[in-house]
Amino acid sequence: MSDVLLNVQDLRISIPTTHGLVHAVNGISYEVMRGEIMGIIGESGSGKSVSSYAVMHLLPENFIVESGKVFLDGEELLHKSNAEMQAYRGKKISMIFQDPLSCLDPVYTIGYQLTETILAHENISKKEAQTRAKEMLHAVGLRDVDRLMNQYSFEISGGMRQRVMIAIALVCSPKLLIADEPTTALDVTIQDQILRLLRKLSEENRMTMIFITHNFNVAAQICDRVSVMYGGHIMEQGPIADVFANPAHPYTQAILNAMPKMNTSPEERLTPIPGEPINPVHMPAGCPFHPRCSLARKICKEEFPAETIISDKHFAYCHRLEETADE
Ligand SMILES: Nc1ncnc2c1ncn2[C@@H]1O[C@H](COP(=O)(O)OP(=O)(O)OP(=O)(O)O)[C@@H](O)[C@H]1O
Ligand SMILES: [Mg+2]
Repeated sequence: MSDVLLNVQDLRISIPTTHGLVHAVNGISYEVMRGEIMGIIGESGSGKSVSSYAVMHLLPENFIVESGKVFLDGEELLHKSNAEMQAYRGKKISMIFQDPLSCLDPVYTIGYQLTETILAHENISKKEAQTRAKEMLHAVGLRDVDRLMNQYSFEISGGMRQRVMIAIALVCSPKLLIADEPTTALDVTIQDQILRLLRKLSEENRMTMIFITHNFNVAAQICDRVSVMYGGHIMEQGPIADVFANPAHPYTQAILNAMPKMNTSPEERLTPIPGEPINPVHMPAGCPFHPRCSLARKICKEEFPAETIISDKHFAYCHRLEETADE
C-alpha cells in the first residue's frame, strides 16, 4: 500500500462572476501521506477553501475546474459522478466546516442527524446506529449524551456544536478529514481543547487530515506539514517546524511577521502585510506576490518561479531563492 493517501495534481479552478473570471486556484499540486496532518495556511482569498471543496466534490455548479486530478487511495475523484461521490463522502472523505450552524439542520435533533449519517453508509440497525452515535458524542468529549441526542443545534453552545460537527464528520471513520478553519469562531480555551481532540482522534485512528487555518500558531499546534498559499498557488511547503523556524518565501515571512506578538502593547502587535491583497480577476503575471514584495525584480513580474529545495521536504517558489541556490 502506498504511503500517499491523497494526491492532487495541477488543480485549476475559476469562477465566472459579474466582474469577470475569478482565478481562484491556479495549478496546485500536493500529496498528503497516510496519518499525516497537512495544514493549508494563507490570507483570506488565497484559495484554501475552493481547492479543498474541489477535493470533496462540493464546488457550486458554476465553478469551472479548468484542469486537475485528485487521487484518493489511487482512485481519481474529479471524474466521479455526484451519486458516486455521495457514497464516498462521509465514509472516505469528510469535512468540518467553519460555521457549524450552517451545516447542522435546525429542524432535526442531533441524534437524528448522526444516526442518519451512519445509516446512509452502513448496513446496520437503527438501534446499533444510535449506540454508535452516542459513543461518538462521548468520544468527542460531550457528556449527558442521552439528553444531547434529543436536542437541537440551536439549544447548545458554540463549542458543543463544533464537537457535534466533528462527531458527524468522524462517525463513519473517514480516511481523510478536511477541517476548514474549525476553531476560528471559538474562544481560545475551547479552540485549544478542539485542537487537542482532533490531534488525538487522528493519532488513535491514523486518520489523515487537511487542516485549513489563517493562523500559524494554530497550525504549529496540530500540523505535521504545512502548505502556504497565495493567489491560488502554493508558495512554500514543508514540515511545520522548519517553515516556522526558517520561512523561505517573503510571503511566509510576512505572514509570520504579521502574527500577534506577546508582551507588546496591542498597537505594536500587528505588522500588516504591506500592499493590497490580490485582485483574482486580474492576476498579476509571474509571481502573484510580486506587487507586494520588497525584493521583487524584473523576472518576478514575468515568470512563476521554479521550485527551490530548502531542506528535506521543505521547498519554496521564489526567484530570489533560485539565485541563491545557483550561487
Ligand atoms: N462563490 C464565489 N463567488 C465568487 N468568487 C468566489 C466565491 N468563492 C470564492 N471566491 C473567490 O475565490 C478565491 C479563493 O477563495 P477561497 O474561498 O478559496 O479563499 P480562502 O483562502 O478560503 O479564504 P478565507 O480565509 O477567507 O476563507 C477568492 O478570490 C474568492 O473571492
Ligand atoms: Mg476559506
